[in-house]
Amino acid sequence: MAEPARRARRRAAVLISGRGSNLQALIEHCATPAASAAIALVVSDQPAAAGLAYARAAGIPAEVLDRGRHAGREGFEAEITAALENHDIEIVCLAGFMRILSSGFVARWRDRVLNIHPSLLPALRGLDTHRRALEAGLRFHGCTVHFVRAELDAGPIVVQGVAPVRADDTADSLAARVLTLEHRCYPHALELVAAGRVRVEAERVVVDGAATPDVMLINPLPGQG
Ligand code: GRF
Repeated sequence: MAEPARRARRRAAVLISGRGSNLQALIEHCATPAASAAIALVVSDQPAAAGLAYARAAGIPAEVLDRGRHAGREGFEAEITAALENHDIEIVCLAGFMRILSSGFVARWRDRVLNIHPSLLPALRGLDTHRRALEAGLRFHGCTVHFVRAELDAGPIVVQGVAPVRADDTADSLAARVLTLEHRCYPHALELVAAGRVRVEAERVVVDGAATPDVMLINPLPGQG
């Protein structure tokens, strides 16, 4: 009997600068038979990025593009775009990529660049989110996968994950909890986008067939003495 026709997988690139644990989560997701995306390229702006090893181990082409070889951001971004075009990339995932992209680059790839940020945006844009969450006394923290806009850590939200803050948390323990959530949220968001279930309307994301969790959380738990 003939196999049912499968949609071709959408070709995705992941841009990193360092550790690459989200890259690894995306690679693992895309290695599953039903995945709608394939990681076809990894780009790092840092030759020593630990995450490059994940790309090599998975046999994914990896390119190191050196910002220092370009006088301006435009030349560097033109090199990124050339790499993306050479590999027929349709979706770009920023995963710990520590460069701010210009409005020109963002417009060129509009609604095709995703980023993951370790907070519940629009709260806590920028760096050092876990320490700032503790300083603000937040009871909940989390992560956001969103489409990239020229403004830092802004853009239509695709997926958010929520983690409770514990009374004894340090910035490191909170970061570790949120990171496990990131590793679930980013593959989920990429899958929704690659499967064609996401559209942006009036700068808000609509997900076809989205199911909403049937939970309400209170922290600290009531009725505990
Ligand atoms: C993650 O916390 C991500 O949210 C932020 O940078 C970190 C990257 O970690 N944008 P990794 O390189 O994916 O391990």
